[in-house]
Amino acid sequence: TPAKREGFSSRRVFLFAAIGSAVGLGNIWRFPAAAYKNGGGAFMIPYIVALLTAGVTFLFFDYAIGHRGRASSPLAFRRLNRKTEFIGWWHMGINSVIAIYYAAIIAWSVRYMIFSFNQEWGDDAKTFFMKDFLKAGKPQLSLDFNPGILIPLVLVWLSLIVIMALGVQKGVGAANVVFMPLLILMFVGLVAYSLTLPGAMTGLNTLFSPDWGALANGQVWVAAYGQIFFSLSIGFGIMVTYASYLKPKTDLTGSGTVVGFANSGFELLAGIGVFAALGFMAQAQGVAVGKVVEEGTGLAFIAFPTIISQAPAGALIGFLFFGSLLFAGFTSFISILEVIIAGVQDKAGTSRLISTMIVIIPLAIISTLLMPTSSGLYVLDILDNFVNNFGILAAGLTSIVVVVYCVRALPTLRDHLNSVSSFKVGWLWMILLAVVTPLILGYSLISTFFTSLFKPYEGYPAELLLIFGWGMVAFLIIGSIVISFLPWSHKSRAAEEPPA
Ligand code: PHE
Ligand code: NA
Repeated sequence: TPAKREGFSSRRVFLFAAIGSAVGLGNIWRFPAAAYKNGGGAFMIPYIVALLTAGVTFLFFDYAIGHRGRASSPLAFRRLNRKTEFIGWWHMGINSVIAIYYAAIIAWSVRYMIFSFNQEWGDDAKTFFMKDFLKAGKPQLSLDFNPGILIPLVLVWLSLIVIMALGVQKGVGAANVVFMPLLILMFVGLVAYSLTLPGAMTGLNTLFSPDWGALANGQVWVAAYGQIFFSLSIGFGIMVTYASYLKPKTDLTGSGTVVGFANSGFELLAGIGVFAALGFMAQAQGVAVGKVVEEGTGLAFIAFPTIISQAPAGALIGFLFFGSLLFAGFTSFISILEVIIAGVQDKAGTSRLISTMIVIIPLAIISTLLMPTSSGLYVLDILDNFVNNFGILAAGLTSIVVVVYCVRALPTLRDHLNSVSSFKVGWLWMILLAVVTPLILGYSLISTFFTSLFKPYEGYPAELLLIFGWGMVAFLIIGSIVISFLPWSHKSRAAEEPPA
């Protein structure tokens, strides 16, 4: 029989890990711009509604499946009902795709942390990022490796082999217990300093001045739900996996509420810090704050470097900002890899070390072949867009529909939550999950599907969109169904009796 399954030593370690996964690049570079574009201060209303109606609700659903099944996502779903196993494999595919490009962003952050000390980018941060740093060329497949990215990328993958091989408690848990407090210290330092910069208050006014009219716009609500899903890491196996490492008697609903509010708190903090800094930049350039708002890589690798060059003690801001990006990204990255490693461990019955190698070596090779080339940025952008819109959203919707309507297991999950938790869930939770959440997910999915069908994403060439966009999405769906029919090793944990 397989060795006894590992877990987190306490609920505290779990909370560090779950918050570590939730708090990521989405908080730092996605939330501030999303709030600004969708009604400013008024965005807080759809955002809080989304957090309460879909966010925490779906978090409980993920926790219930993982904690009840005490297994990786494929096995936990299999233990709920044999027919739902494919959802777990789909989760593994989604996380593999994210891992391939997430590693590159972490590698860039490491380089930029070092660049901050003498503001390597001079006075044109955009040209530096695109030409000197990424050596970005045309969006086409290429194999011209750029050592400036190749080397940090390989180092990121090597350090992850070490952490992941150490296991759930000594690797995943310990890394989060160390990195999360560091992240909070650095980020609070950054926000506090940004608030002292001239123009900071104008930045905050720009972010928080409410446009109440936005509340009547459906797209604003879609944006709020999209942000909550991405930001809480729900619906693609991460919370299923982490919850499976909790002790049998653990307060699940209480823990989920803590994670949900901690993540949103960090998001708010990031909004304040980022807009204070943007307010300074706008004032220094004599333009309106709205003119300098960026998100994603543009915010991190173009706008912030410019701020760093212009602000007093810029090197310090750079160190704190890219350090925060590094730690926030790293702890999320760990959770992505844990989903895949746990699945392999369960299916193949291999040891932690072997499972880590089986997962990380191929992913590291693919990531190293795709990311450090002159088209790496475009491949990253396409993978990110398609896996978020059609991977995460579609898998989230499918898991609810299948569990609620095809195998009718929602009451089982409710009973499981209530058998261990401090506050109980009832009909309200079931309605929010079974009716409200799928309607909103379905609407978002269909509307983004038609937009992307008729308008090639960012105008990228069809071959790139076909391979890394549509092809990748189709491959994940077909692959997960095929794998769910493959037999489980007699050494695997599926051979054990499912938990009562
Ligand atoms: N929840 C993370 C964030 O807000 C994002 C994330 C994506 C985490 C994928 C894990 C995996 O940034
Ligand atoms: Na988040």
